[in-house]
Amino acid sequence: MEWTGLNELRDSYLKFFESKGCLRKKSYSLVPQNDNSLLLIVAGMAPLKPYFTGQEVPPRARMTTCQKCIRTGDIENVGKTARHGTYFEMLGNFSFGDYFKDEAIAWAWEYVTQVLKLPEDRLYISVYEEDDEAEKIWHEKVGVPMDHIVRMGKEDNFWEAGTDGPCGPCSEIYFDRGEKYGCGKPDCKVGCDCDRYMEFWNLVFTQFERHEDGTYTPLAQKNIDTGMGLERLAALMQDVNSIFDVDTVKAIRDHICKIAGCTYGEEYKKDVSVRVITDHIRAVTFLASDGVLPSNEGAGYVMRRLVRRAVRHGKLLGIEGMFLKDLVKTVVDCNKCEYNELEEKYDYIVKVLTNEEMNFNRTIDRGMKLLEDLIADMQASGKTVLDGEDCFKLSDTYGFPLDLTREILEEKGFTADEEGYEKCMEVQRTTAREARGGSKYMGADETVFHRIDKEFASEFLGYETLSSDGKIDFLANDDELITRAEAGQTAYIVSAATPFYAESGGQVGDTGIITTDTGKAEVTDTQKAVAGKIAHTVKITEGYIEQGQAAHFEVDAKRRMAIARNHTAAHLLQAALRNVLGDHVHQKGQLVDADRVRFDFSHFEAITPEQLAQIEALVNEKIMDCIPVTTQVLPIAEAEKLGAMALFGEKYGETVRVVSVSDFSLEFCGGTHLTNSSQAGLFKILSESSIASGVRRIEAVTGTNVLGLINELEDRMNASAKLLKLNDPKLLTDRITSLLEENKELGKSADALKAEIANSMFADILERCREVKGVKVISAMLSNVGAAMYDKFGSRIKEREEPVVMLIAGTADEKPKFFCACSKAAVDKGVHAGKLVKEISAFTGGKGGGRPDQAMAGIGDPAMIDEALAKTDEVLEGFIK
Ligand code: SER
Repeated sequence: MEWTGLNELRDSYLKFFESKGCLRKKSYSLVPQNDNSLLLIVAGMAPLKPYFTGQEVPPRARMTTCQKCIRTGDIENVGKTARHGTYFEMLGNFSFGDYFKDEAIAWAWEYVTQVLKLPEDRLYISVYEEDDEAEKIWHEKVGVPMDHIVRMGKEDNFWEAGTDGPCGPCSEIYFDRGEKYGCGKPDCKVGCDCDRYMEFWNLVFTQFERHEDGTYTPLAQKNIDTGMGLERLAALMQDVNSIFDVDTVKAIRDHICKIAGCTYGEEYKKDVSVRVITDHIRAVTFLASDGVLPSNEGAGYVMRRLVRRAVRHGKLLGIEGMFLKDLVKTVVDCNKCEYNELEEKYDYIVKVLTNEEMNFNRTIDRGMKLLEDLIADMQASGKTVLDGEDCFKLSDTYGFPLDLTREILEEKGFTADEEGYEKCMEVQRTTAREARGGSKYMGADETVFHRIDKEFASEFLGYETLSSDGKIDFLANDDELITRAEAGQTAYIVSAATPFYAESGGQVGDTGIITTDTGKAEVTDTQKAVAGKIAHTVKITEGYIEQGQAAHFEVDAKRRMAIARNHTAAHLLQAALRNVLGDHVHQKGQLVDADRVRFDFSHFEAITPEQLAQIEALVNEKIMDCIPVTTQVLPIAEAEKLGAMALFGEKYGETVRVVSVSDFSLEFCGGTHLTNSSQAGLFKILSESSIASGVRRIEAVTGTNVLGLINELEDRMNASAKLLKLNDPKLLTDRITSLLEENKELGKSADALKAEIANSMFADILERCREVKGVKVISAMLSNVGAAMYDKFGSRIKEREEPVVMLIAGTADEKPKFFCACSKAAVDKGVHAGKLVKEISAFTGGKGGGRPDQAMAGIGDPAMIDEALAKTDEVLEGFIK
């Protein structure tokens, strides 16, 4: 066999199966679409599930792909061995009720022996223990000797993934890599755990559907799903030890070693970290390119764990500063020939990853410190399990995903209380769920609409018209298909054609009226039901409606127009954002209804008020330029060539609809729009905020809603003007300015008055105070007097002609103090402020002193203040001559 690069291998496989009549498709996104059973795509067949079950009709009955996959089941072992990884590509050929075992087996053999030229005597086959048919094909048709075929049980030769979906018995091809890879045990054979017999191709005869409750039912059609790990195959063809030695993966591994200044293969601990980063950086680069953002839920959480784990292993290697960015470049370079979008999205991917890297860097040191302290506590107390609450705190406050905490604990010989952690998580989740509210019927997996013939689809007429005549083809309630619905009831109507837009791409569903000869139904919502069916949620308001009746469909035109204004404005907004902020801006979500636009997008810092004003002005400029809004349906490649913006990770068909506002905005979009930008009227941004790390939200209004907003503001201004007795609200600013001015003046005179009152009070106190040997004495504890007032008090005393001493204990500040001031006449009589406070404070255990006319001292025990002050006269007497 000949050394072959990973990229060339992929191409050779796909070409081979194209020659067998398979439709070659690019890898689907890593994010499953309309599939709750999986967090991420784990196999080539996963995005094609509806074709296996027959729920949807495939573009061709035989297909071939090279699919990006992520499996996290073994994440803990990634790095520790050279066998484990999370990210890989899977080569697959698939038949949906078309070819079956005969062809699948023969073609696999042909590819392996004729194209890859693997020596036949080193190939072994496993078949499911009950599958005589497969064994017969391998032996009799293909010619594999019986001593190269083994039968295995369900554990090894039955394939299924996730909680439900298509599955079946399988047959695997193994390659004998030779004794040097073996364990040397006498019973070492195919299926042994060692590295000698490498399983590299799995042929699944997909005949069953697994259900969530663990039961199986036969599928209506017999299918083929074959999967071969591309990296693994490359390792075999390149005769290297592991996937980390395969050309395109090794390039990343080498880059990491260069940054870290280490050599792969020299030190086990370092190799672990190098492998973790090599694997994870590939995974997160592709996740980012498929639109996943690090978060605390679902796929976003997988991504967060992978990024943070990589960052931590970077620290273990002693890499200083941010390093993910450099590595992304190598991942992109090694993969761009197949995934050309990587280059386009390069800046964006770097932003997403460095943003997360930065966030984690901010807390990692504090988190590590906390964890080290906790570990030290455990060592001291002999505990071996870290409390769930601590694990939760590490994750919630310091961003340590549980597996990272677990990994660090394990390194030191401890474990984590995962149950306790889960409990804390559950409490948080429940709170979040309650805050969000319940989900609706259409979101459930199995719906009543599955009972309608799968070929039946609804044509959407609503791009051209808002009313049409048709038929009530199906009528349903939440549980079953029905034939009649009466006034007062709610129901769903499905029909072969409708002008009602079903909620999609963030645009809400249409509302309106459906009438028949016998009744009238108010449409309160329109949603996409399964496989091309559109379901109108209705409330029957008059008479009754029956299945099969002729019906008239009438969309609420005013509402539809308001929605169109907001939808077109959302497109203009995205274009303006990219114009002002940069090309890293991508839509992350939107809600377009009759009231407003809510647009979420990737951007990594707050938008300045100037930028916001610029964005708003640009959108309004495009509105006032009266630009026609046009739509075209194009083959996807042509649309991409035009530079139309697609949604990250969205699965598009062969042709796409492109909505353009001249060349300012071009987007893939199925929504309903204005015909001219000017119909939007005016565009006004209401708010800009951050909703998640790296995601910002703008809310805005258009058309009549702007008018509503202006009217509301006007009402408020008029009401304010009225309060201030102004005829013209324009005078408000002047009036407010003069009121503030007046207010300030009033404040000043109030202060002066207060000072005057204080003065006369001071005089009063002096009048009435006691005398010790001809010196007036004021001594008191004042709970609302503190450092800020001492100097003022001091100068009032010092300006007096007569001999006066003031000693106060001020306790307003955190540290209470004695303060003492004496007039010159008192000093002349022998009084010394410094000495006085020194002696008095000593009674409380405090210390201090100062000049003869002014001094301060600390108070030791505040409980002793009264007692200390009571000594004033006695101490003074000692001073006075
Ligand atoms: N689904 C099977 C696997 O993942 C074959 O593609 O191995």
